[in-house]
Amino acid sequence: CGIVGYVGTDRSLEVLLGGLKRLEYRGYDSAGVAIIDDNGDLHTAKRAGKLSVLTDDLKVNPIGNGSTGIGHTRWATHGGPTDRNAHPHLGDDGRLAVIHNGIIENFAALKDELLAEGFAFTSETDTEVAAVLLGREYRATGSLQDAFRLVVSRLEGAFTLLALHQDEPGVVVGARRNSPLVIGLGEGENFLGSDVAAFVEHTRNAVAIGQDQIVTITPDSVTVTDFDGERVEVEPFEVAWDASASEKGGWSSFMAKEISEEPDAVANTMRARHHDGQVVIPELEALGDDVLAGIDRITIIACGTAAYAGQVGSYAIEQWARVPVQVELSHEFRYRDPVITPKTLVISISQSGETMDTLMAVKFAREAGATVISVCNTQGATIPRESDAVIYTHAGPEVAVASTKAFVAQITALYLFGLHLARVRGTLSVPEQARQLDELAAIPAKLSKVLESHDSIAQLAKWMADTRAVLFLGRHVGFPIAMEGALKLKELAYIHAEGFAAGELKHGPIALIEPGQPVFVVVPSPRGSDEMHKKVVSNIQEIRARGARVIAIAEQGDAAVLPFADEVIPIPLAAPLFEPLLAVIPLQIFAMELSSAKGLDVDQPRNLAKSVTVE
Ligand code: G6P
Repeated sequence: CGIVGYVGTDRSLEVLLGGLKRLEYRGYDSAGVAIIDDNGDLHTAKRAGKLSVLTDDLKVNPIGNGSTGIGHTRWATHGGPTDRNAHPHLGDDGRLAVIHNGIIENFAALKDELLAEGFAFTSETDTEVAAVLLGREYRATGSLQDAFRLVVSRLEGAFTLLALHQDEPGVVVGARRNSPLVIGLGEGENFLGSDVAAFVEHTRNAVAIGQDQIVTITPDSVTVTDFDGERVEVEPFEVAWDASASEKGGWSSFMAKEISEEPDAVANTMRARHHDGQVVIPELEALGDDVLAGIDRITIIACGTAAYAGQVGSYAIEQWARVPVQVELSHEFRYRDPVITPKTLVISISQSGETMDTLMAVKFAREAGATVISVCNTQGATIPRESDAVIYTHAGPEVAVASTKAFVAQITALYLFGLHLARVRGTLSVPEQARQLDELAAIPAKLSKVLESHDSIAQLAKWMADTRAVLFLGRHVGFPIAMEGALKLKELAYIHAEGFAAGELKHGPIALIEPGQPVFVVVPSPRGSDEMHKKVVSNIQEIRARGARVIAIAEQGDAAVLPFADEVIPIPLAAPLFEPLLAVIPLQIFAMELSSAKGLDVDQPRNLAKSVTVE
């Protein structure tokens, strides 16, 4: 969910709606705001549907303005996306409002306690339980800060909670446990947000707060305490990008803009991390080379697109640094009994740095004694704070729900890590390290070249707008790319899509091939492994013989595929390990264009949210 809090001058509604617009990618089932107006009266407005439903409604039914407010966009967990279940939720006397992200696990017990005392509820949400409880404690203590502290101390689970009370205008309180919350510092005004996008158009001065901490903002003060009310140290930071970086500009969608930024995402992620042909990642220095030299196994954990980036990265890291690398979905890793020793290195990958499944897996791994390095694209996020070291991807803010530029930046970060590790462990000669680094450095220009095929891929997508199922095949590093291509199509165009290892075809999936079935094939370069290239060309012939319509993504000038492919999307020459960075682009563009051709919302696909902060 997206969360904004504001205290300052008489413009809270604009600030809240502007912040929610920038946070809408975090959830768009419903939206709501609560403000305290200049007469000290509390007003709320909330509507099911996207934020635009709320803003249109506010034009017809204005709620005034004021200098204190909170706002929320929701990704439904408890209770469907209805007007009633939308946030904010009011206390029983209507004098306070609460918004919440996460799940309060003990809400049923708390609700029973309140029901037994005669309190009534109007929604099915766990949030309303917190609101009613806050009302009870406020009457007992007469202080929003004290009452809020008592409430959050009783909550179990993961939450970001914000509250205001009409008897205390000019105050917003917030708390977090395993769920994001950052502070924005202004002049005569202060902000809270689930991430810095909530307030970056007003200030780039931000403060990260830790787990189990409470923040109170007024127009000219910010106080952070733990759940016992003891003051704690905070970490200020400056947001590395400005508001325009998270705006659509002239592009038709955020995703179109973000795909166009992929060359920069790779180049910026490499910057300042190499010299004289060797990779040195400064952020890993504190960890110590001896720790990295001593590891005997790497487990990469992530979800969704980030997990496919991990899978691509695993080939390079294992090949260069000669350490076994295994990739696992965070939620699967967390709930089995994996072998973890002090020599285990866990690498988590998360664009948002907030994915709850990955956060929980990181905590679990550290408690079990592993060293944890996180690859993350978001400053001030939770996962980096819970890790031993962080490698930030410098892709810039990614707004479209389906990940594109963060994916290539994640692969870049993993490749840099692979070369860093190979240097520390002495597993690649110095000239060989330089050769691989040169290959990586050449990728941004090649990506720009691939982007030139946009129009022809868009045309292909238009022709295929009625397609009901699409298959994707790949081998080696092309295998995770096939799966990522399928994921993109599911997410964006709601089409059944599957990615397979090309070698697995004959063991089952080939039964799916019938005349006209479209199959994308990621063809490895013949200059890498001639044998592997030949095998994939045979796979193409096998499906072609059964009527498949083959769309090959192949190296420029690869004549061997031409006789068997219905369409060829050429990519520039690159060493085999680096092809995924190029081959994924046509698949991203294809999914985006097919989604547009079907008239769907590319940036906000149904049922999804960019940052899934529940397990
Ligand atoms: C959600 C998004 C996916 C994303 C995944 C991991 O499921 O819809 O697009 O790949 O989360 O997100 P993360 O922020 O951890 O990279």
